Amino acid sequence: MTQRPETWYKHINYLGCGSFGEVWQGEVWIRRIEKEELVNDRLALKFSYATVESYGVQQVIAAHDLIRDLQHPFLLGIHAYGNHGNKLWIDMELAECDLWVRCCDKMSQKLCCPPVKLAAHLRQAAEGLDFLHENGVVHCGVNPWDILVADNAAKVADFDLARTATDRSNANVSSYRIAACMAPECDSGEITRFSDQFALASTYAWLRLGRPLPRIEGHAQALARLPATERQALVKALAVDPQKRYRTCSEFAKILEWSVQ
Ligand SMILES: Nc1ncnc2c1ncn2[C@@H]1O[C@H](COP(=O)(O)OP(=O)(O)O)[C@@H](O)[C@H]1O
Ligand SMILES: [Mg+2]
Repeated sequence: MTQRPETWYKHINYLGCGSFGEVWQGEVWIRRIEKEELVNDRLALKFSYATVESYGVQQVIAAHDLIRDLQHPFLLGIHAYGNHGNKLWIDMELAECDLWVRCCDKMSQKLCCPPVKLAAHLRQAAEGLDFLHENGVVHCGVNPWDILVADNAAKVADFDLARTATDRSNANVSSYRIAACMAPECDSGEITRFSDQFALASTYAWLRLGRPLPRIEGHAQALARLPATERQALVKALAVDPQKRYRTCSEFAKILEWSVQ
């Protein structure tokens, strides 16, 4: 009888953390008849803080069950996930950094990349989100730390809150970063693909202005710092009524990209 080769992960460098877990650069190794071989050293591993049986982790597993077969150049690839030591691990494509690190100067918290480049990344993320929406999934947690950059392209990542477009339950949000970008209708569980568009526009505004947008009443004052065409492009995506936003994230992102040329 031939023995199945044994595979295992090693975590190498700490990459970051969020409200759900911590992320490491990792490697996959395989043992074939007394010999160890490195199979892949270009992956990232996320480990949950909470144990697998907790409600929050079960929800994240359900979210990954929804998206695991959805592949798109502007969605971060999820390779596998499972239980290790009673914690959830997620094996995923390795990115260079998140959009916050790519676009903001650490000291001043100000935008350090040209708006044209930021808008181009936003259009890529918008295409990734539209692809999710076409497949009946809403991301539900877009913010500057959950869009990653790999091979100079933006990739929507962190699918922990992903849900079907027909799900009307309240979102279980414990992250300030996600909450700060969320659309107002999410408070009552009315989360749709238009909510991702609002969060994408909030993400752009946060990176562009160096701070999160205040609640809706404060939008006009905060956005007044931007040129009129750019502001107009954002205002529609940030409409209180989801039906008054653009039809798709890409439509919004194309108009935004045009506005900063
Ligand atoms: N695949 C990856 N490649 C590189 N860095 C990553 C990757 N995934 C996450 N990170 C870094 O780790 C941070 C936290 O990851 P995230 O998936 O958002 O965790 P959480 O679910 O706890 O919010 C990200 O903001 C990013 O800086
Ligand atoms: Mg996150």
